[in-house]
Amino acid sequence: MSTAPLLEVTDLVVEVDNGKRILPVLDGVTFSVDAGRTLGLVGESGCGKSMTALAIMGLLPQGFRVKSGDIKLDGKSLLSMGPDALRKLRGSVMSMVFQEPMTSLNPVFTVGDQIGEALRLHEHLNAADARTRAIEMLRAVQIPAPEERVDNYPHQLSGGMRQRVMIAMALACRPRLLICDEPTTALDVTVQAQIFSLLETLQKEMGTSIILITHDLGAVAEMADDVAVLYAGKRAEAGPVATILDNPSHPYTRGLMSCTPRLRLGSAALTPGHTLAEVRGMVPPLGQFEAGCRFSPRCPMADAHCHAAPPPDVHLGASQTVLCWKVTQEQAA
Ligand SMILES: Nc1ncnc2c1ncn2[C@@H]1O[C@H](COP(=O)(O)OP(=O)(O)OP(=O)(O)O)[C@@H](O)[C@H]1O
Ligand SMILES: [Mg+2]
Repeated sequence: MSTAPLLEVTDLVVEVDNGKRILPVLDGVTFSVDAGRTLGLVGESGCGKSMTALAIMGLLPQGFRVKSGDIKLDGKSLLSMGPDALRKLRGSVMSMVFQEPMTSLNPVFTVGDQIGEALRLHEHLNAADARTRAIEMLRAVQIPAPEERVDNYPHQLSGGMRQRVMIAMALACRPRLLICDEPTTALDVTVQAQIFSLLETLQKEMGTSIILITHDLGAVAEMADDVAVLYAGKRAEAGPVATILDNPSHPYTRGLMSCTPRLRLGSAALTPGHTLAEVRGMVPPLGQFEAGCRFSPRCPMADAHCHAAPPPDVHLGASQTVLCWKVTQEQAA
């Protein structure tokens, strides 16, 4: 079996032209996802999580473009593919559950039609076979009475069911990569837990790699094998979940952890010198970043050097990477 990652995002730089200025959206984002594993992509609102996902899918909104870097799926650069080749991959080899289920489900088509669409397009199934597979997918995502629900319109389903339909649509062609953008944010905790357990079951069955986008490190702790923390379009920290939760080394990661009640007890976030009750302030708007470390205006450890010069990526051990001057000085010396 090949040991190369399924997805490799390298030094990804995305910018947006807002009509007046070109603004940086992602700046040198690097991570990879191995076959059958789950990567948690975390960070507060506006850090660039959805734009990273849309760049991978080749679906960046108008005005946005990949300026440099590379995105490879199974060793092939997605950025050098034409629109037709990308369209063939989307929904078949890679697919995405979008952040807003109601904006991505079409209100005038039944859920059966919408699940079947990818199957008709990519696997050339006829209408009857597509319907049968749509019912199977509804059953796989544990929607009761799938033979009846297949003819429902999105507004006839609860929020949790709609999210399951989105997952059924995304998994209909058994993609190798599934990106879930905040799949459970709008759902109550019990339904969240059900959706996560469903994703895990389907992942085991299909061997799918998952990118789970969330602002919740608790969800990452439950679901993911690896994690990449984004802050203001840059990768602040990355590594295996167990390593990062045991030894969160970027002050931003520690801040996120201390804001996550499920992770507080026993975590290194609360060891002496590492305490950060909350992450004060907000992610700066695009283009209003500090010349040095982008987190420095909010960082309890920042000194003049942090404000002045962009920090290096520091490797801690074999697999943890941290973008921080303080780590350079204190730990990697
Ligand atoms: N259509 C748009 N036009 C201009 N800027 C945008 C647009 N969509 C997003 N942005 C900006 O791009 C940056 C990255 O946004 P992105 O949607 O990737 O954030 P996110 O991490 O997914 O946040 P959230 O948790 O709120 O979904 C933010 O500064 C955001 O304001
Ligand atoms: Mg988003």
